Amino acid sequence: MTVQDETALEKESGTRPDALGIGGLTLGIGGVPLLDGVTVRVGRGETVGLVGESGSGKSLTARAALGMFPRGARATGSVTVAGVDVLAAGRAALRDLRRTRASMIFQDPRAAINPVRRVGDYLTEGLRARGVPSREAAATALELLDQVGIRDPRGALRRHPHEFSGGMLQRVVIAGALSTEPDVLLADEPTTALDVTTQAEVIALLKEMQRTRGTGMLFVTHDLDLAAAICDRVYVMYAGRIVEEAAGTALFSAPAHPYTKALLEASPSVRGERTEIKAIKGRPRSLAEAPSGCAFRDRCPLAGEDCAPSVPAMRAHGTSAVACVRPEEVAR
Ligand SMILES: Nc1ncnc2c1ncn2[C@@H]1O[C@H](COP(=O)(O)OP(=O)(O)O)[C@@H](O)[C@H]1O
Ligand code: SF4
Ligand SMILES: [Mg+2]
Repeated sequence: MTVQDETALEKESGTRPDALGIGGLTLGIGGVPLLDGVTVRVGRGETVGLVGESGSGKSLTARAALGMFPRGARATGSVTVAGVDVLAAGRAALRDLRRTRASMIFQDPRAAINPVRRVGDYLTEGLRARGVPSREAAATALELLDQVGIRDPRGALRRHPHEFSGGMLQRVVIAGALSTEPDVLLADEPTTALDVTTQAEVIALLKEMQRTRGTGMLFVTHDLDLAAAICDRVYVMYAGRIVEEAAGTALFSAPAHPYTKALLEASPSVRGERTEIKAIKGRPRSLAEAPSGCAFRDRCPLAGEDCAPSVPAMRAHGTSAVACVRPEEVAR
């Protein structure tokens, strides 16, 4: 099914599928498991966080939404963007999807823009690929640059990436990612490389741009405090699995998984590194090196014999869902 077919189907039925739906995604390379049953949903206009230490599988999950898998990877489960089946899509349909329905922003804006091309060309190419006439595309680019707070937007169109600071260039990338009015925006650590003040400005801008357009956003970060503060809902990942799903506010006040609690207690300088997190022993595990049963059990202060036989299933706990056998013992 092409993207056009899908749009027609939408019009006919009058339904609007979720911006992003990942269901039971399992992924491995050459027999090495990397993701196990990852389920993530992003509604229209919703901001959803995906958090966990480095190596937990956040980027693999976000990239799956665009049909971007590592070489040799085998994926099972389901991935849909605005109802389009990503796992079944051929090359042309995937190209179409990335041009019209799903955009991604990475940590380093300089890696996203070809350094020898002018910002104006970068911003208009997606629009022109959709058949928007050059003049109209240029006008839209100008408007977008103004909206993302670039001074002298007309002059900026003619400039090259190296003439912008990292923060300003990330604003340009945000403008480009939203220029095609995608259904879903995948933001993978979009502000990690920026200084704290610029980080706050870029996040505020990103949220405003996304909200006013009704774009669903999956915000990937190792910073749980940040995710809890800006996201409607947050998924917490550990060793290639989702271990908790909660409203941003609930995560702060009542973490239900021992790992979530440990992340909240960890100092920001330690988070994101493959080192010990405060109040918890050991380092993060990949899925391949994790113990059987609950992958967190060799680091968990509440671990018992009942955590070993099988992987705990996600179950409701208050307003959250958690993959732990005794969430009631996890108080903040
Ligand atoms: N191309 C790849 N080939 C083999 N292993 C990979 C590849 N990409 C990621 N991995 C492994 O998958 C796990 C999750 O990686 P990733 O999704 O990048 O983590 P995160 O974004 O949470 O830091 C890590 O153990 C990483 O080493
Ligand atoms: S299932 Fe057991 S080991 Fe895993 S997080 Fe819960 S208490 Fe800890
Ligand atoms: Mg990553």
